[in-house]
Amino acid sequence: MTDPRFTDDVTLAAQRLRAGELVAFPTETVYGLGADASNETAVRKIFAAKGRPADHPLIVHFDSIPAAQKWAFSWKISEDLLAQAFWPGPMTLIVRRAAHVLDAVTGGQDTVGLRVPSHPVALALLREAGVPIAAPSANKFGHVSPTRPEHVAAEFGDELQTILLGGDCEVGVESTIIDCTVSPVRILRPGRISAADIARVLGVAPQTKSNDESAPRVSGSLASHYAPRTPTFLKTANAFSALKVQSKIGTLTFTVCPQFTGAHLTKIKIPAAQIEHDLYADLRALDAAGLDEIWIETPPAGAQWEAVLDRISRASTRE
Ligand code: TXA
Ligand code: MG
Repeated sequence: MTDPRFTDDVTLAAQRLRAGELVAFPTETVYGLGADASNETAVRKIFAAKGRPADHPLIVHFDSIPAAQKWAFSWKISEDLLAQAFWPGPMTLIVRRAAHVLDAVTGGQDTVGLRVPSHPVALALLREAGVPIAAPSANKFGHVSPTRPEHVAAEFGDELQTILLGGDCEVGVESTIIDCTVSPVRILRPGRISAADIARVLGVAPQTKSNDESAPRVSGSLASHYAPRTPTFLKTANAFSALKVQSKIGTLTFTVCPQFTGAHLTKIKIPAAQIEHDLYADLRALDAAGLDEIWIETPPAGAQWEAVLDRISRASTRE
């Protein structure tokens, strides 16, 4: 039986959004849990449904660059170059916020995250709703992000009545977050838009890491995030060969073929983009397999693996 929360009716979803209800919707990265970004009561429902601390800011989604620009205090050349190059698409820009942006959205910070997604259903919803949509990934706080409608359904109960259908998310990991309030701009969360892509557009390499205490809060930057409920460990290829046959360990590997008897997802010679696309569904499948532990092989070196390595590291328990 199909879940009664599932719908492909964009008009209905838009009406519910405008009425202050939560609507989960597809984007090219992951599914979002959306609310009218200009309605404080609606925005608060996101935090309640996710179990997310109120000071963790939300990304606001728009259907065009001019619409996004209105939520920024000012629009710099670097912001414009990035927006023109990568929107609609899997990129979020952190900019100084315009005066009208709600504290509920920004967690009280003076910056706001802006994004124009490229998924046609997301764009249709934004156009039909006629309001910007504040949306985190549609999962409980700290859990694995959803890339399919059934993932969203599994996360929420009655707090969510509407899940707009849009298939399997094409990218599979969340947008690249770029802090444009510093110079050079800084990548806060790696994603499909890479440091090299950004450097090509701006003519200068972005900063990639910071220990700066005053850096804006990014919940996606917490050490433990995107995590399955089963204890998950990042392991080298050597560690796999050292382990004896083990039925209660599930594995996700990229170069080795483990001899275990538990659940295996062996993805040898598969491009990083495909691994990225499959990653969260794979983690969910392993999490549902009744295992004692999940072991994930450290991905090969290379810039194309950066987002995968970032998410796997956060999904893993520190040893
Ligand atoms: O691909 C994505 O970005 C998805 C889809 C739905 O658009 N959204 C998403 O949202 O991943 P969320 O809330 O799960 O992660 C957004 C991250 C959070 O870690 C949040 O702290 C950070 O963006 N963020 C939002 N606004 C910010 C701000 N003003 N300053 C710093 N970080 C911010
Ligand atoms: Mg998230």
